Amino acid sequence: MFFPIPSKSQHTFNCRMGFLSAVQRVILVIGSLVCLSLFPTASTLSQQRVQLSVDTAKPGARIDRNIFGQFAEHLGKGVYEGIWVGPDSKIPNTRGIRNDVVAALKAIKVPNIRWPGGCFADEYHWRKGIGSQRVVTLNPNWGGVTEPNTFGTHEFLDFIDQIGSEAYISVNVGSGTPQEAAEWLEYLTTSQQTTLAKERGANGHPAPYKIAYLGIGNESWDCGGNMTPEYYLSQLKIYSRFVRNFNPAQQDKQQMLKIAVGPGGAETRWTEWTESIMKAWQNHQWSWDMNGLSMHNYTVVRWPPAFASVGFGETEYSQILKSTLDMEGLINKHSAIMDRYDPQKKIALIIDEWGAWYAALPGSHPGFLAQQNSMRDAILAALNLNIFARHADRVRGANIAQMINVLQAMILTDKDKMVLTPTYYVFKMYVPFQDATFLPVTFTAETYTHGDITLPRVDAIAAKDATGKLWLEMTNIDPNSPVEIEISMNGLNAKSASGETLTAPKVDSVNTFEAPNTVTTKPVSAKFEGSKLSIKLEPKSVTVVSIDQ
Ligand code: AHR
Repeated sequence: MFFPIPSKSQHTFNCRMGFLSAVQRVILVIGSLVCLSLFPTASTLSQQRVQLSVDTAKPGARIDRNIFGQFAEHLGKGVYEGIWVGPDSKIPNTRGIRNDVVAALKAIKVPNIRWPGGCFADEYHWRKGIGSQRVVTLNPNWGGVTEPNTFGTHEFLDFIDQIGSEAYISVNVGSGTPQEAAEWLEYLTTSQQTTLAKERGANGHPAPYKIAYLGIGNESWDCGGNMTPEYYLSQLKIYSRFVRNFNPAQQDKQQMLKIAVGPGGAETRWTEWTESIMKAWQNHQWSWDMNGLSMHNYTVVRWPPAFASVGFGETEYSQILKSTLDMEGLINKHSAIMDRYDPQKKIALIIDEWGAWYAALPGSHPGFLAQQNSMRDAILAALNLNIFARHADRVRGANIAQMINVLQAMILTDKDKMVLTPTYYVFKMYVPFQDATFLPVTFTAETYTHGDITLPRVDAIAAKDATGKLWLEMTNIDPNSPVEIEISMNGLNAKSASGETLTAPKVDSVNTFEAPNTVTTKPVSAKFEGSKLSIKLEPKSVTVVSIDQ
């Protein structure tokens, strides 16, 4: 939508108010307000039209579909109730796994799921979660509750299979042994008739499983054992050597990627950590290797998490979004270190824990990390996914924390009820970007200011999918004003664009079990104006369109 520039006579007209009656003044004030909103000044007008051009001639890296990965830890209601209800539950399920959740996750094409933790992984003993007699243990990290181990290896891999995803297994380095982890992988992957393979068959899965990723420890500098880089490196070398994948189908190109523990922030101790691991890798012997370095970065502003996940205003909206943009600097910082030791970018940076971490919902168990998910989180997700896409040459995996009922979730459940969050819709809208080729985009982001916080107003990425179709994502951070975008593409005759936009009445609008569609997508299209496509982004919105040529 375009606004005509106000004429000089309108300004003159307003200046003569002093000579008019009170009634005429009221009419004129109302008229002026209408004029102001309908006919903004030239400077407002230029602010509202963003010129965006896509350079189709300079394709970048492939946006690895694995940046849309998920994380499911044994934590709160993330696994129990969120995924697993058991075969005897009245909640519709397939072999104990809830059908509504499976259907929702299938629709967002989850590329991989990291499991069983998190901090939980370094206390997990896989044998307690197989066979007919499960061992009840404790979950000291997350509320000290009992862990029934009814959702174990086979249940996780059944779940992965039901949603068409891949397994990212984190092995226990903190309180386990290399032997325990090595036997787990033999149990999972060998096709030969070893005792462990027979046990796997007796437990219902004679064929070897495919394990796409192996996480060697979790936050080993903290909850994973408070190790020094040197100590962790000695563990990494042993686990990398002996925890083997025997699946015949994974010995070549489909090989399992080994992910080492990486940094948890920008502090010196973490730059030293990245430095140590990468330096060791550069000089590594034949007997060990790694394919990725993990990084964890939550949007939290201050510790302990104090921001409310619902019932907040524009101040908290702008503070959280400012904080989330720190992801870019963090990736730059650690990528620069990695580039020194690995200029060919063989080692992927895998951001396998990211997302917003707010105060626990009032009345919920503080150890369960339950929070609501608002329009703010949808914008936050889009901004982070765009950062990952812009670093697609190095960032080749990411796992949002966490998939269901925990932190920045895709799905919330309450017994038999399920609701999809604003973040879920963002992941759904971004499906066309999975494995698409990044295309450079230039635009003047302009600014959005609230109080002492100034942020870029607009963000955008573009990509070309395997069929050659062009996709564009545009985010309007500004919660108060729409933004008009004029899109041009070199070398392409763009005819029209259509897709979906996600917005909501308020920055803290959420979907609840009672009102599940407050934040949901609606169709949007771009008009052809002269030689450019023109599209209006609503305030606080995430928009994805495909371009018809
Ligand atoms: O996602 C919650 C926790 O955050 C994970 O268990 C841990 O790795 C991180 O500190």
